[in-house]
Amino acid sequence: MHNQFLASFEAQVFSTTTEQSAPSNIALIKYWGKFAGQIPANPSLSYTLSLCKTLTQMAFDSTQPFSVKLYLSGELNLGFSQKIETYFKSIEMYLPWILMGSYEIQTHNTFPHSSGIASSASGFGALAQCLMDLDKNFGSKLSPEEALKKASFLARLGSGSACRSLYPGLVEWGRSEELEGSSDLYATPYPSSDVHEVFRDFHDWVLLIHEGEKSVSSSVGHSLMHEHPYGETRFAQAKANFASLKSILKSGDLQAFIALVEHEALSLHALMMMSSPPYLLMQSGTLETINRLWAYRKETGHPLFFTLDAGANVHLLFPQGPSSEAIMQFIESDLMAFTQNGGLVKDRMVF
Ligand code: PMV
Repeated sequence: MHNQFLASFEAQVFSTTTEQSAPSNIALIKYWGKFAGQIPANPSLSYTLSLCKTLTQMAFDSTQPFSVKLYLSGELNLGFSQKIETYFKSIEMYLPWILMGSYEIQTHNTFPHSSGIASSASGFGALAQCLMDLDKNFGSKLSPEEALKKASFLARLGSGSACRSLYPGLVEWGRSEELEGSSDLYATPYPSSDVHEVFRDFHDWVLLIHEGEKSVSSSVGHSLMHEHPYGETRFAQAKANFASLKSILKSGDLQAFIALVEHEALSLHALMMMSSPPYLLMQSGTLETINRLWAYRKETGHPLFFTLDAGANVHLLFPQGPSSEAIMQFIESDLMAFTQNGGLVKDRMVF
């Protein structure tokens, strides 16, 4: 229990609707491994995307008994409705009114399902924002900053990485001596004054190599880190990488950034290959993309690089700059062949 987020409320009867949105995010330093209560084993850092979002409309009716109906892109989804019902029950101590009414939730994503773009992050981000908006009707006295922090706290309890989706730009989660105010309980915006301008206008183009369901859920992935032969080494590595990244972000050393971000992505996949049971999350198209991208970078020196989530799709990263036009043309002409159905999602982070 986290006392700072406990709340009392004034009971009122009302029905109301709120509409909120939250973007997805892509981690540069990966969160992989957690302890009880959704506490991360290491600090992580992500870019919050701009265009890939979840939009959520929530109708609450306190004259009705507690129930949740969740519609995904207009279709009632019983699995998600059940999941959200369980989630609401789990956070009652932080929002004591939450079980006192019925919810009809309409939600849709601006990006394709199963695309390797974390809809759980944007989904729980938007849901937590809706809840904090409803909280105002129950006499909440929180300032906008405190309400945002609590939304990040609540989103984390739904899906860990979701807590980072509440803030734009670069966002950190996990207590670290390297960042003042950082916490295991909620995300902290990474100060943009400590970020060189080369990192403040970045493209993330997601190449959809495989569009099916993930072969392993992230909760299974996190749990595999408990008995993992490299678990402790990995947590120490991520902490050290965060310290290195801090100075890279400040100095603007793009080559060091590229090396570190790709190493983090490959470490995540190597950890899954080395777990029991093992998982191979890449498809042949993932490997072909990486090899082609590396050859292109070697030939041209253009700063195109990649990161990966726990799946086969490739997030192609590159800064806006003199070579971005050439990079875009290369992606469209040379990398689309590795996609399953020609899928490419273009996003850009400017802050
Ligand atoms: O938030 P979860 O439990 O879905 O885990 C996310 C894990 C990664 O996306 C692989 C890494 C990260 O930090 O986002």
